[in-house]
Amino acid sequence: MVTYVKAQDGAQRVPNIIQLHGEEGFAGMRKAGQLTAKALDMLVSYAKPGVSTLELDRLAFEFAQDHGAKPATLFYRGYRHSTCTSLNHVVCHGIPSQKALREGDILNIDITLVVDGWHGDSSRMYPIGEISRKSERLIEITYKSLELGIEAAKPGNTTGDIGAAIQTYVESQRASVVRDFVGHGLGQNFHDEPSIMHFGTRGEGAELKEGMIFTIEPMVNLGKPHVKILSDGWTAVTRDRSLSAQCEHSLGITANGCEIFTSSEKGLFNPLLTQQALSK
Ligand code: MF3
Ligand code: CO
Ligand code: CO
Repeated sequence: MVTYVKAQDGAQRVPNIIQLHGEEGFAGMRKAGQLTAKALDMLVSYAKPGVSTLELDRLAFEFAQDHGAKPATLFYRGYRHSTCTSLNHVVCHGIPSQKALREGDILNIDITLVVDGWHGDSSRMYPIGEISRKSERLIEITYKSLELGIEAAKPGNTTGDIGAAIQTYVESQRASVVRDFVGHGLGQNFHDEPSIMHFGTRGEGAELKEGMIFTIEPMVNLGKPHVKILSDGWTAVTRDRSLSAQCEHSLGITANGCEIFTSSEKGLFNPLLTQQALSK
């Protein structure tokens, strides 16, 4: 069972205690979320064939510095970069490298910027040049699954309703949902209660209440859901080497739905819609 408490300034994570945030927390998350979205927007024009993920990581670091923000992953549990860059069959936690991106790659960039102590956590897909129809379809399924998860994020529903919405849809498309990594509460803590599974059963899990702040970040594979961690201790890849995609928003539960903190003002969140947005 979980307990809900009014969020206190600086409160640490406590197992099974869910913090309910007020207007101050929502204002803090709006600011952090918007800056995070802007960092990911900035990277759109740089994520091209020939560029390395280490260069993209450096751009993200400089962006954070220029805007008075701190990348939450830098020195987090021994991690040494500002972003996670997960390429093709990498599911998540890919480490930026010097290898040049190639036409047809699909890349996820995940960044968390801390602004005034609040964490904006978001990730998106970046198609590198022209990509295959198969890769496009995977990205489409992943984005649609996040949208369905967000639609289920409202008071009275449960965390299981979010997971069920995502899983039912993804599996109907003959793709699979990764079980090993989950969405999470956040705020002044990077990772807080509750865990948001991207699979599950309707009506199960914790009830969603106004003031909860968490991420939804489904990882979807074209093959089987199973992952393994490489010897670097971070990189998670699909066991069957099938392609994997992910997208992530930070959001807060409101009186009758939710507020997404990490939307792109420029309409660049979904790469399959980005060309339209850029030509406006
Ligand atoms: N940003 C990731 C998330 O969505 C966490 C990355 S932790 C790291 O929760 F240490 F791998 F960077
Ligand atoms: Co996250
Ligand atoms: Co993230």
